[in-house]
This record gives sequence, C-alpha cells and structure tokens, in this order.
Amino acid sequence: MSQENIRNFCIIAHIDHGKSTLSDRLLELTKTVEERKMKDQLLDQMDIERERGITIKLQPVRMIYNTEISNSKSQIQNKFKIQNSKQEFVLNLIDTPGHVDFSYEVSRSLAAVEGAILLVDATQGIQAQTLANLYLALEQDLIIIPVINKIDMPNAMVSEVSKEISDLIGIEEKEIIKISAKTGENVPEVLEKIIEKIPSPKGDIKKPDRALIFDSYFDSYKGIIAQVRIVDGAINKDDEIYFLKTKTKSEIIELGVMKPQLEKTDSLKAGDIGYIATGLKEVDKCRVGDTITKVSNIKYQVLSTDEDTYDNKNIIVKPLPGYKEVRPTVFASIYPVEGDDYPELRDALEKLKLNDASLFFEPESSSALGRGFRCGFLGMLHMEIISERLSREYDMNLVITTPSVSYQIKKRDGKELTIFSPADMPDPGMIEKIKEPWVKLEIVLPKDKIGSVMRLAESSRAIYKKTDYLSQDRVILEYEAPLINIIVDFYDNLKSVSSGFASMNYEFLEFREWDLVKLDILVAGEKVEAFSKIVPENESYNEGKRVVAKLKNIIPRQNFAVALQAVISGKIIARETIRPFRKDVTAKLYGGDVSRKRKLLEKQKKGKKKMKSFGKVEIPQEAFLSVLKK
Ligand code: GTP
Repeated sequence: MSQENIRNFCIIAHIDHGKSTLSDRLLELTKTVEERKMKDQLLDQMDIERERGITIKLQPVRMIYNTEISNSKSQIQNKFKIQNSKQEFVLNLIDTPGHVDFSYEVSRSLAAVEGAILLVDATQGIQAQTLANLYLALEQDLIIIPVINKIDMPNAMVSEVSKEISDLIGIEEKEIIKISAKTGENVPEVLEKIIEKIPSPKGDIKKPDRALIFDSYFDSYKGIIAQVRIVDGAINKDDEIYFLKTKTKSEIIELGVMKPQLEKTDSLKAGDIGYIATGLKEVDKCRVGDTITKVSNIKYQVLSTDEDTYDNKNIIVKPLPGYKEVRPTVFASIYPVEGDDYPELRDALEKLKLNDASLFFEPESSSALGRGFRCGFLGMLHMEIISERLSREYDMNLVITTPSVSYQIKKRDGKELTIFSPADMPDPGMIEKIKEPWVKLEIVLPKDKIGSVMRLAESSRAIYKKTDYLSQDRVILEYEAPLINIIVDFYDNLKSVSSGFASMNYEFLEFREWDLVKLDILVAGEKVEAFSKIVPENESYNEGKRVVAKLKNIIPRQNFAVALQAVISGKIIARETIRPFRKDVTAKLYGGDVSRKRKLLEKQKKGKKKMKSFGKVEIPQEAFLSVLKK
C-alpha cells in the first residue's frame, strides 16, 4: 500500500460520548471484523473495561476502506480524481480512553497519528474532557474532524451543540458531521472526511529506519510486544533491531498489524502502525517512547563522528522525541497479605508497567506490613484499576494503604525533603513549613447549577479564578484547588450537586504552603501508619472524630474491646470503642462430630485470610480508603 493511501487517526471525546460505539461502526463498515464476531465495544478488550463500560487502554486497529461508492459525485473521488471509482485506503485507528486519569494514554496515541475525530454527545455538549483532549490534539498540530454523536436521542440538542463546537474551534457549523454511532446514521460520511481531510503520514521511506514505541505488553509466548508507528524507513521480519534508549539488541519473532487481533506481515513501512514481537523477557528493555531502529544502522553510527549528517555511507539514527515523563499524583503502598508473595508482586508490577508506562513503584518495607512497594498513580481511578488488575490478572491478595499526595517539607535545620506517604513526615517540632500540590481545576456546567457547584468548591478549599461562557446556558468555571481535595470524592459530589450535568478536568499547578498537621490513628493502642493522613490544622479536630467514627463501623468486632484513637502531635483528640464479639461457628454443633467441627473452624480461618493483622487486630482492605472519603 502506498504511503499516500494511509490515514492514521484517533477519536477523542469525553467519557461515554460514544468513542467505542463509533469505532464498532467503523469496523463494521470497513468489514474489518466479520459480522458474526462483532460484539459491542469490540476494542475494549480487557474484562474490567467491558464490565465498567469504560476504555482504559489505547487500542490500535487497522482497517481497509474501499472508495467504491455508489455516489459518483463522492468528494473523495473528485479530490483524488479517481477515474475507475475504486481505490483502497488503510485507516489506522487508535481508540483512546476518555477519563482524565488516562490522558497519558491519549497523549501517546496523538503522537502516533495525523488527525483526530472530536466526538461530542448531542445530549451533553462540550464537556471538560472534550476541552482537555482537544487542547492535547491541537498541541500536536493534528487535523480535527468535529462530529456530533447520538442525534437519534430524543433529548439531542444538535443545533446548540453545533454552535458550541463552531465557536470553540472556529469552523462553520456545516462542516460538523452529525451522526448516530448507535444506528449508523451518517457514519460513512465520517470515513469520507477522514480520507479527505487527514493528511497521509509524512515519514520518508528512504531515511534511516525509525519506529516510535507508543505502547507495549507482555506475551508469554512471544515475549515483549511493542506497538509502533514507523516514522521513517522500514522494518522487515528478518531484521535485527536495536532500542536506542535502552541500548538493547533484539531479534524479531514476528511483526505485523492489529486488526485488532495480531496479523503477521513481512514488513512495516514509513507511515504504518503495527506491532513487533521481540521475544525479550526483561520488561525494562522496551520502554514506551523509545525509538527502534535496525542494528545495521547502528554500526554506522558507532563509526561516524559527524552527528548531523546521514548519507548512504554514514548513517546516524536520531532518537525520536518520545513522550514527556508523567508525574504520578496519588501515592499508596501495596503489600502482599502473605509475605511469601512479595516476589510475585514484584513480577506482576513489572509486567503491568510494561503495559502501563505511567505506573511508578519502588520497594519499601514497614514493621507492620513487611516488604512491599510504594506506588505512584495518575489518579484514584488509575489506582483502583491497577489494584483490580493485580488481583484479577495476577491473583494477588493485597493490602493497599490509605492513598496520599506528595508533600514538600522544609525542616528547621534548613533541609528540604519530599515525602510520598504521611508515615514519612518528620516530627512536628522539626518542621518549618509544608507545601502540598495544587491544581488548576476546570468545571463545565449549566448556568443554573453555578450556585451549588460554587458552594461545593468553597468547601474543598478551592479558590475561584474566573468564568467563561461556552454558550448562553453553559459555562466553564476555573478554580485553583489542593489536589488532595479534588482526587478523593470531589467528582462524585460534583455529579450529585449538579444532577449529573457538570464535568471536570484538572492539571498540576504548583506546590503551595498550607497549615497542615499529621493525623495518626491508634488501633488497640498501636499506631497504624497505613491510616495516617495529613490534614489542614483548622479541620484536624473534626477530621479525627470523623475517621474514628467511620472505622468503628468498618473494622469487625474482635473477641476483645478495641479502642480507636485519633492523635495529633501526641495528643488524643477523639476516641471510639469497638465492642467485643466472638462468632463461634461451632457453638451449635453439640455432640461429637469432630471432623465437621474442624472443617468449620478451617473455613472460618480461611474467610479471615483476606485480612492483614495489625498487632492483634485484623483490618479489612476497605478501611484504608474509607479514611480518605468524607
Ligand atoms: P469511554 O470509553 O468510557 O470513554 O466511553 P465511550 O466514549 O467509548 O462511550 P461508549 O461508546 O461506550 O458509549 C457510551 C454509551 O452511549 C453506551 O451505552 C452506548 O451504547 C451509547 N451510545 C453511543 N453512541 C450512541 C448513539 O449514537 N445513540 C445512542 N442512543 N446511544 C449511543
């Protein structure tokens, strides 16, 4: 296929605006997937994605589109002066997630394509994540094709939304395609526009071979599989390849394209999107953002002295720009419930990182919990998904400590440090000041909800900045707010005070000083570091009371009374007691069936296995997250 006839694009949208459904229709129209194999949201391949109805991972798919269309006045045919009414195009689509926690997946997809369909739900209009993703796409100089979806719904506001989009990106309303991804209405027009508007990939097949890794995962048979965009040159199935950043040589087990299942080919050329199975087992050798070239190019580089020239004799391969490093925002420690599982947990985290470059982790140990890892995530949903993937895909039984943001601390002796867990906070007497991360927060909402949303923002320490009008009835409110107050339950509260109509997006701003103190929790007289949190001084008393009252309802009764105490700087500020209780499952089994009795006791023990003991008390996993939630 000539490079002229390739189109690489992705679909960007706010969560639930219909990306996956539109992808399904495109797969059908291009007959990429046989009808009998078609199922809804085909590109959401992970179980968690299908159950929750959200896209977490980017997912590339290659489609073949024939311009053999009945309408001889087709714009494509005119534009490309197609005489014999038939021409074949390769369309590479990368499906991307819509939730803010996964915008790193979006930004990587955008770097591998030339255009983006901006999809907006006709019943919702432009939402916070529509804006955020649009800005990302404009930064990459992508061609934007605006599309309004769900026009079949009775409450679709096609003309209002059309005006919003036209005002936002400065195009004429008639340029916006109005579709129903569900019924398929007007979807063929989207395919035509892709071919007409999105440029073919620019790469040069004659230049030294370079492939950008935009994603990767581990396959137990084929080793590490890198998903790549070939920028220049070509990679053939018998080539030996070289990873520029990790300085690793590798053979190619196979290469090919995603349809979306892997399909072998002989080579991938400039402009193509495909996969390279490397057989590599060491997961740190293949990093997202690295450049793959051929080993034959590298020999030339070693011989060369002149960095800036490449001709046939003297080839220099320059690494591609790659991706910006992501900054984790939420930190929590993960420990195996059974200490013996530590090596398996390390192995599982390494493999997950290959598939999710934004995951950060490093080993740590604690006297109460043993050996585990401190992990960094891009948000609470990201943390939830990682812990769910660890337990589902790797069968791990875990304790995850109360999540926290990072803090910058200046000590009285002049030393500065950054901590990722409240447990690492120095003694209050040694601290001069504490800074916490703040974000710029954008909330898109109907005008009549402004009052209730503003009250919510104020109760979250947010500082109002400005209001912009999207249309007569809908506005964008801008705030600055402490990250810790935004990540936990702000989103849920926003949805409830706006009856579901408001949406939000945030990005890191700076570290800001605040009057903060550490709140500790003692369970049966012992401090449980995993419960510690850092709170504003003026809220600390109420917060201490709230946390112990909440834990009282979550920690199960033990066979002795358990005191729960909230402590600040060594002073107890609140206390609750869990009354004793012993559930003796064998009590009703009088008489002598010993084996039955033993069986039941075993069962009781097994049921308890899921909890970790802290001192004498067993604490269930949900207790750790509950400490944060209001
Ligand atoms: P994320 O991947 O989570 O960001 O969502 P998404 O944008 O992929 O949305 P998805 O395709 O999963 O669609 C969300 C919901 O809207 C699903 O219940 C779809 O069936 C429904 N939907 C999508 N397009 C249409 C449409 O044109 N009309 C109607 N009536 N419903 C639609």
